[in-house]
Amino acid sequence: MMTEPLVLGIETSCDETGVGVVRGHTLLADALASSVDEHARFGGVVPEVASRAHLEAIVPTMQRALDDAGVTLADIDAIAVTAGPGLAGALLVGVAAAKGYALAAEKPIYGVNHLAAHVAVDTLEHGPLPEPAIALLVSGGHSSLLLVDDLAAGVTPLGATIDDAAGEAFDKVARLLGLPFPGGPPIDRAAREGDGESIVFPRGLTAPKDLARHRFDFSFSGLKTAVARWVEARERAGEPVPVAHVAASFQEAVCDVLTNKAIDACRERGVETLVIGGGVAANSRLRALAEERCAKYGITVRVPRPKLCTDNGAMVAALGSHLVAAGVAPSRLNLPADSAMPLTVVSV
Ligand code: KG4
Ligand code: ZN
Repeated sequence: MMTEPLVLGIETSCDETGVGVVRGHTLLADALASSVDEHARFGGVVPEVASRAHLEAIVPTMQRALDDAGVTLADIDAIAVTAGPGLAGALLVGVAAAKGYALAAEKPIYGVNHLAAHVAVDTLEHGPLPEPAIALLVSGGHSSLLLVDDLAAGVTPLGATIDDAAGEAFDKVARLLGLPFPGGPPIDRAAREGDGESIVFPRGLTAPKDLARHRFDFSFSGLKTAVARWVEARERAGEPVPVAHVAASFQEAVCDVLTNKAIDACRERGVETLVIGGGVAANSRLRALAEERCAKYGITVRVPRPKLCTDNGAMVAALGSHLVAAGVAPSRLNLPADSAMPLTVVSV
């Protein structure tokens, strides 16, 4: 069994074309080409635009990753690729490319789950993940709490958003505040100048009656509507909208709920490690609040550096490396791209 496999990872599930190379838990290359600017004027990712951009970017990004890592395709032990969940057309580009490279170079291929890869990427920064761990996954498409007993075998979902994803809420609130897409980074920046306690926005699914059924679930659509109503009332009254205060108070509401539910999950399951992943894990307030609150309960928080939180190829390579080291069998060469791949499936 290989303990330090050299694995190449390909990510094309949304708007980032990522190719990463890792050896064991060591990051060797993380090449990225983003089509985010092409989507900005639409205020959201346009699937057809994303697919075309992946097609143009995949070969040069692959070459750049190999060059950066100082290896050739022949040196690689296995190729991992995001098989789902994500945009169907976008996934297909990465899966087809991975199959082509795997076939040409006679390498094993691993079709992996994008969300499990968001968890695995932390191993590149903090080493092997202690198991069991609780994972809080917060991205543009997903918000989930998971119990990770064995990342190679599968994860147990504890809860998820019942409406908008956390990142989606950031994107929508940014839009109504006139901030650019994607909304997470500009809200994060604007919030630094504001007071997070200046406006009390609702904390979804935290009332006792909701907790009975939705202990570890999230809801952000009511929060988004509350922000919209608050901003509209200001505008109707002809008063200026205090963007920094609204951004900070909205961000506080999101981070408050995410950290409290994650800590409750750790305490209920007797788990001492919390790992946070996905694009929203790049949020500075979420990182600070998680540190502060977890410290009180003796929970260790692991959050990878912001560049590894948003979509990239290194996270796919990291999960691939974990699977190879665990002796998991590779996927078949006819593996499908599955836009609705369930969280419980780590590799196909
Ligand atoms: O994981 P990711 O790159 O793509 C998906 O799999 O969805 O996450 C993208 C999401 C976007 O909604 C973006 O607004 C959000 O992550 N995001 C942030 C920050 N950076 C990115 N949200 C809050 N604060 C940030 N600093
Ligand atoms: Zn993602």
